[in-house]
Amino acid sequence: MSIPPPKTHLGASIEEVLFSAENIAAKVQELGQQLVEHYRGKRPLVIGILSGCFPFMADLCRAMDMELEVDFMAVSSYGDGTKSSGVVRILKDLGQPIEGRHILVVEDIIDTGLTLRYLTEALQTRKPASIEVCALLDKQEARTQNIEVRWKGFVCPHKFVVGYGLDYAGDYRNLPYVGVLKASVYSDS
Ligand code: IMP
Ligand code: MG
Repeated sequence: MSIPPPKTHLGASIEEVLFSAENIAAKVQELGQQLVEHYRGKRPLVIGILSGCFPFMADLCRAMDMELEVDFMAVSSYGDGTKSSGVVRILKDLGQPIEGRHILVVEDIIDTGLTLRYLTEALQTRKPASIEVCALLDKQEARTQNIEVRWKGFVCPHKFVVGYGLDYAGDYRNLPYVGVLKASVYSDS
């Protein structure tokens, strides 16, 4: 059964709600507890991939009751469209070396897996003690790369989704839930 979006200004561009703010909050708590368990006795460096990670990263780190450090990277893979360009570029790098550190990469969504593959390979050359990935959404059907995502929130249907960090041409990141964007929004432009 599909959940209609709330009747708000941004909600008018949404076809259906896939993951409500409440669904997400519960899942983030669950992931946070698993991460605390996994990293017990360590002090992980949590790396958020900008810009899409920002609500998830903030909520996830607050669900982790332990010492941890945060840093951010920005990469481009999409441009303004709804299809992956296949080109990945580092736009903002980390502020510190990561040799010997336990790295947790936090991503909004894994689609083809190109961004993550490129990123984890680039980070691997810097000799961290470990690299794991936590993604809120996993679009398994779209995967072209063989990558391991150890923690994932939800499996996402092969549709273009926005909200809770995910954008279309820069918009909708501030929606408190994840929903399917109405096709009319991108076919009109
Ligand atoms: P990948 O390299 O194909 O795995 O794409 C990963 C990146 O594409 C994510 O970090 C998002 O920024 C973006 N992306 C993939 N699918 C969607 C979507 O449905 N909505 C918004 N952004 C998406
Ligand atoms: Mg994006």
